[in-house]
Amino acid sequence: MPERVAIVTGGNKGIGFAVVKQLCEKYYGNVYLTARDVTRGQNAVKQLEEQGLRPKFHQLDVTDEDSIRTFRNYLAGKYMGVDILVNNAGIAFKVPAEEGLYSQALDTLDVNYFGIREVCKSLYPLLNEHARIVHVSSSSARLSLIPKESLREKFSDPNLTESQLDALLDEFLEAVRLKRHLEEGWPHCAYTVSKIGIGALTEIQQRKFETYKLVQFDIVVNAVNPGYVQTDMTNYKGILAPEHAAEVIVYSALLPRDTKIRGKYIRFDKVVQVWSKS
Ligand SMILES: NC(=O)c1ccc[n+]([C@@H]2O[C@H](COP(=O)([O-])OP(=O)(O)OC[C@H]3O[C@@H](n4cnc5c(N)ncnc54)[C@H](OP(=O)(O)O)[C@@H]3O)[C@@H](O)[C@H]2O)c1
Repeated sequence: MPERVAIVTGGNKGIGFAVVKQLCEKYYGNVYLTARDVTRGQNAVKQLEEQGLRPKFHQLDVTDEDSIRTFRNYLAGKYMGVDILVNNAGIAFKVPAEEGLYSQALDTLDVNYFGIREVCKSLYPLLNEHARIVHVSSSSARLSLIPKESLREKFSDPNLTESQLDALLDEFLEAVRLKRHLEEGWPHCAYTVSKIGIGALTEIQQRKFETYKLVQFDIVVNAVNPGYVQTDMTNYKGILAPEHAAEVIVYSALLPRDTKIRGKYIRFDKVVQVWSKS
């Protein structure tokens, strides 16, 4: 039987670290803790090894094409395919800058949206039947947080393609650069827009998997809102411990064969929602 493979991005700390730990405990297969920084990643692996767990490590910076390609080639050379992908890596600026707003917006979308897109583009051809993908989203992903109705309609259009979605997010960046995003009906916060992008991407990707189901069978992608969590990102002000938040992510990563939870937005308490109606 081929070896099974699970991958977690941004696994060196916070929610990602807790997800790696729980997958190591619950999943029969190779669990890859990936991190952009090798030392931070290897230190995290060591911590888990001290608890008797056996995660594997590979460097992965989701904004670096070479890093993504190297990881993809490594996986393609070593395994028959990938079974679980948790797109957890993310950033949020703690203090919104007025002057540096554009560069913050660029960085945020680069990691939280375009980074995930690139990882998917590269790793999806390796997915095995029954693969499960989890995009770690947020309560900020709700479509209703976009003030302008016509923009909301574009994001939730059932015929929206990935390249049209990319173009919408580029439109937001351009509006921020020109300092016109508020008058054009966008939210103030780039983090919100990045996670809204992930909500739309989840629905588009699941539609594609259903269309190509004869080639890649029973592949499921969901977005998960892990709640407000005590991590570096929130200055440890969250309500939930990372271990608690990780539970819904691991639940989504281990959804059974032929699950009906496909292309959905799953809340920290496992309530399943339709993102385009959020
Ligand atoms: N905490 C919350 O309340 C909350 C709520 C909703 C959603 N989320 C989402 O949950 C996910 C994890 O957040 P967290 O709270 O655990 O934050 P965190 O403790 O700050 O961890 C973020 C992780 O992402 C990694 N990362 C950042 N940029 C990366 C890149 N270019 N390539 C690869 N890895 C990268 C970080 O690596 P470094 O250590 O190298 O920086 C770190 O491992 C994020 O997607 C976040 O948006 C969090």
